Amino acid sequence: MKKIEKTARLIEKHDQLFACPICGREIKVEGNTVRCPGNHPFDIAKKGYINLLMQASPEDYSKELFNDRHTIIMAGMYRQMHIMIAEQLKQVLSPSDTACLDVGCGEGSHLVQILEYINKENMIGVGIDISKDGIMTAAKYYEDVIWTVGDLSKSPFQSKQFDIILNILSPANYHEFSRLLKATGLMIKVIPQANYLREIREQVLDEEKRKYTNDQTIEKFRKHFPEMEKRRVQYKWQVDPVYQEALLNMTPLTWGKDKANLSLEEVTIDLDILIAKSTQM
Ligand SMILES: C[S@@+](CC[C@H](N)C(=O)[O-])C[C@H]1O[C@@H](n2cnc3c(N)ncnc32)[C@H](O)[C@@H]1O
Ligand SMILES: [Zn+2]
Repeated sequence: MKKIEKTARLIEKHDQLFACPICGREIKVEGNTVRCPGNHPFDIAKKGYINLLMQASPEDYSKELFNDRHTIIMAGMYRQMHIMIAEQLKQVLSPSDTACLDVGCGEGSHLVQILEYINKENMIGVGIDISKDGIMTAAKYYEDVIWTVGDLSKSPFQSKQFDIILNILSPANYHEFSRLLKATGLMIKVIPQANYLREIREQVLDEEKRKYTNDQTIEKFRKHFPEMEKRRVQYKWQVDPVYQEALLNMTPLTWGKDKANLSLEEVTIDLDILIAKSTQM
């Protein structure tokens, strides 16, 4: 089956998740187009995704950056984070939990890896990102997830549809997250901790700028999800020389820096995983 048809079938099967980004009403799939009762049409892309963004996609992150993130994630740099999230989810998921949304999914590998570790047949993954290049990269590599170009602040989904929301190293919109989560849903946000990528920071940032604290981000999360829990995942990843270039190019930390003399034998992964149940019963 062609990618466009596969995507159309997936959206059709899960059309209750989606809302027209113009009028908020339900959508239906007609051929390779998605349409609401107000007759607002959105074409499914040949490459296997749907664009529900009402403006041009920003280009802060390039296609090359997403490809390099893909290379590094698939090389295993975040594997322990994926496993820790999947273990958390396995403990609480019930058989009827079926929809997982990754907000700010980028090139999609985190979502796909986590779903593989959960290994739950009836779970549909949906990835949304404002970057068309990110979503196109995701759609190039992975077919069984619904890849959506869209804005997390006005996300094109119906309320109370998702059992899990992931938000990994990406901006948040807690009002939307609360709206989208089912009453029994689980919110998981991943944020950097002080030593995250410290070997890169030490080579490219002034001493003052190297210091980083995630206190404010945690407080914001706690305000919306007071019952939150926090798990830290911390380890060193040995950098095989073949991944050196991709690693230096996958992070905004090195933007505008001369990378010729940078070298990395290992890199520190240091992340906080914030976990909370939906606050609306
Ligand atoms: C640092 S990247 C992380 C991407 C991915 N989660 C990862 O870890 O590889 C941040 C992502 O947030 C996305 N993003 C920023 N603002 C957004 C918005 N308003 N709606 C949806 N995605 C957004 C960017 O396009 C980018 O892909
Ligand atoms: Zn509409």
